[in-house]
Amino acid sequence: MAIKKIGILTSGGDCAGLNAVIRAAAHAAIGRGWDVLGLRNGHLGLLQSPPDVVQLTADAVRGGDLLRAGGTFLGTTNIGDPFAYPGPDGTKTDSSREEIAAMKALGLDALVVIGGDGSMRLFDRLLAPAGIPWVGVPKTIDNDVPGTDFAVGFFSAVEVVSEALDRLSSTAASHRRIMVLEVMGRDSGYIALYGGVAGGADAILMPEFPYDLDDVAAHIKHITHNRPGPVLIVAAEGINRPPDDRRHGSSIGAAIATGLQQRTGFEARCTVLGYTQRGGSPAPFDRLLASSFGVRAVDLLADGANRCLTAWRGGMVTHVPMEGVVTGPRFVSPKDDLVRAARSIGTYVGAIP
Ligand code: F6P
Repeated sequence: MAIKKIGILTSGGDCAGLNAVIRAAAHAAIGRGWDVLGLRNGHLGLLQSPPDVVQLTADAVRGGDLLRAGGTFLGTTNIGDPFAYPGPDGTKTDSSREEIAAMKALGLDALVVIGGDGSMRLFDRLLAPAGIPWVGVPKTIDNDVPGTDFAVGFFSAVEVVSEALDRLSSTAASHRRIMVLEVMGRDSGYIALYGGVAGGADAILMPEFPYDLDDVAAHIKHITHNRPGPVLIVAAEGINRPPDDRRHGSSIGAAIATGLQQRTGFEARCTVLGYTQRGGSPAPFDRLLASSFGVRAVDLLADGANRCLTAWRGGMVTHVPMEGVVTGPRFVSPKDDLVRAARSIGTYVGAIP
């Protein structure tokens, strides 16, 4: 079927680079003579009456403003499941038919969904039965989308972590302290690994590899020759709490700092980066990923593709079938080259199987 009109939406947690994807996909679609609608706030805009959409014109996406603007001007959401949508009284209703009807009423022939693995699962369940062709573009700071080496937003988060470690290194040296930096990543350790190696961390604690705080303390004493000295620790938010941690409710980074101070006798402090990893202007590589993926998504739709994800694999832009993407998040492999590099540089990375 010839495509004449597509929708573009962003879904899930935001990150840097989303606007750059929208810009590239809209440019490519308009260049094919297609009509382009931006759907607001993920799937939520489809539940408004009339649907909350915006016409994406060439002027609206021209120039570099969207390329460098953080966040998503369409809005997004990582709450509310169309198949169990929470009403004001807390009851959950299946609003999926209403959303499909809204897409058809808008005359959408296809969709570009910019999201993480959870959004890919959600839209696959929503669109496949409705027969609406769609292509996914992987985005998340967590970099846990199966099928692609990198997702849009990841390297921007890595840049924030690396810069934070550069800043922490001087205050760690001034006070001869252990500085623990807690980073995001949900249940994966990619941000911790890449940010930690880029920022010269002495230890990187990831959910994928068990750690022992006694071993971390021993590593610290070894590298500081048993004297207080500057030490940088990166702790992913998804790691297990230390077994002897009594301060439930404190951040995992704070628990690690307390545990290391108790074990080494050296002063320790914690910094939680939080949402700074999601904000701000995208790093150059994320702009390149976003521009390539946005164009590739439209090319795939024009070629009649459906239910696939644009991907970066082995340094090339390609695409993979959605079947391998919706299986759930991916995790750092013990065979990851950067895990080996970190260990060879002398960084503690936990117990590698
Ligand atoms: O998935 C991206 C992410 O930033 C995770 O790293 C983090 O744990 C989570 O989203 C936070 O979710 P929310 O934005 O709902 O607080």
